[in-house]
Amino acid sequence: MVGKVRKKKPDDAVKVGIVMGSTSDWEVMKEAAQMCEEFGIPYEARALSAHRSPAELEAWITRMEERGCQAFVAGAGGSAHLAGVVAAQTILPTFGVPMPSKYMKGLDSLLATVQMPKGIPVPTLAIGEAGAANATLAIVAVLALNDAGLKKKLLDFRVRQSEKVRNATLPELR
Ligand code: RP5
Repeated sequence: MVGKVRKKKPDDAVKVGIVMGSTSDWEVMKEAAQMCEEFGIPYEARALSAHRSPAELEAWITRMEERGCQAFVAGAGGSAHLAGVVAAQTILPTFGVPMPSKYMKGLDSLLATVQMPKGIPVPTLAIGEAGAANATLAIVAVLALNDAGLKKKLLDFRVRQSEKVRNATLPELR
């Protein structure tokens, strides 16, 4: 077994696969998992590296497809080829999340993830936590096209979010 394993129900059907290059990415990538929890979407999250554990990564993608996975979220940092490698091995939509990196603050990860050559798309989200959460929200929007219950949850989420902004107050000037 490679890396950190987070599973909803190990052998059950799963809709979203969340993969990250290292356990050190989990603090950011857990936002994608939390969003799955919020929408009641079964997911599995794994730390599997495109360069440190390529065989295990390939086997996991195959197994996820067999279990009915419908989309992947892949987060990596630095020379971040993970999302591209995942996308190359499946026709399921694969969303990339660039990790904030120590020396370049994620700019390296962003460019490595987003600049895919023509033919293998990796829709890429923002660097960091917002990107991880938004990757799941993008998947929710796609799944909601054919799922009325999920569509309602997504509309409710938007309403709650707008209400928060409407009800927000700024601190008094001193
Ligand atoms: C990438 O290298 C990972 O996605 C991570 O963001 C970065 C650093 O990995 P560790 O050295 O912390 O394992 O492969």
